[in-house]
Amino acid sequence: MNNIRIKILQRKMKLYYKKSSRVLPWRIKNQKNQDPYKTLISEIMLQQTRVKAVLDYYKNFLKKFPDLKSLALANENDILIAWSGLGYYRRARNLHKTAKIIIKEYDSKIPSDKILLMKFPGIGEYTSSAIASFAFGKEELVIDTNVERFIKRIFNINSSKLSPIRIKELGEIIFPKKNRGDFAQAIMDFSNDYCTKLSPKCSSCILSKYCDYKGFGNYKKIKLKKNKKYCISYFIYDSKELFLIRRKPIEEILGGMYEVPSSIWQSNEKIADMGVIKLDKSYNPMFLKKTIKHEFSHFTLFSKVMIIKKEKIIKNNIKGKWVDKNTIKTYPISNLTKKIIDYSLEEVASLRKFL
Ligand code: ADE
Repeated sequence: MNNIRIKILQRKMKLYYKKSSRVLPWRIKNQKNQDPYKTLISEIMLQQTRVKAVLDYYKNFLKKFPDLKSLALANENDILIAWSGLGYYRRARNLHKTAKIIIKEYDSKIPSDKILLMKFPGIGEYTSSAIASFAFGKEELVIDTNVERFIKRIFNINSSKLSPIRIKELGEIIFPKKNRGDFAQAIMDFSNDYCTKLSPKCSSCILSKYCDYKGFGNYKKIKLKKNKKYCISYFIYDSKELFLIRRKPIEEILGGMYEVPSSIWQSNEKIADMGVIKLDKSYNPMFLKKTIKHEFSHFTLFSKVMIIKKEKIIKNNIKGKWVDKNTIKTYPISNLTKKIIDYSLEEVASLRKFL
């Protein structure tokens, strides 16, 4: 890859960013720095999550928490409610911690230095570079999975085992010396338009003359075989249309979110009872006909939902809250819990119709 080819590639990307890249609410194109708070929120939301899924959450979040101070002073529950459905809830709790630290120890100003940024909870190599670069114009190399793929393709390197140092070395060759933030964000959009993971559009790619990648169109989606986990969820309802929810312990997956009480999630399909509920012996609880299936990044959860009338419970050790379909909105819940509640409420409503 000679110098001239790289210079042309850089110029093409600059033009692409100016003319064809996405207009995004946190983004200020062309050599101007973005707002640090907006950059912090958007980059945390964009960790492991696509732009399309983030957009509405980002807008609502900024309405609720327009600046760092409002975020630091907020109640964690309210932050989790604003994050409900976006997944990876630890991000929201870490963001809250970060906001509090910045208010207390950094005179309410988000630091511009990558090393300082990396000290905050939930901010690693990528996010610290992104904030330093996009919001403060620091000439960091911002390398996420898309940028990494782009770099490897330009040099036609197929290995999945390149060290981060080697990737940085190759990045140094491709990135311009100035306005690296724009260049990185250009690649992120370009990866969405042309240099996609599974079906790169090399035949119409504006960079094909300046890229050594020759493996067009021979990708197959490799379906990772995910582990399976199983649980029973207990949808306990009373005659006043209330049902029981509880907060998941912080150290567990979905920690801090509210759930319909469930047994432990285990890989054995034969689920042991949780033992905290004892039912009237003559009572035969109903199960939802549909097992609720939910995809997590590393496993698929199958939840069988037991629908139980409160008055049939002899012993209940669950410490929770009784809510109805309106008051549940004031609690943070995951998509999984939302699914369980929606199906269970439907089932209970149809039961009532026939009684
Ligand atoms: N993914 C992560 N950060 C991004 C950004 N700033 N623009 C587009 N996609 C992104």
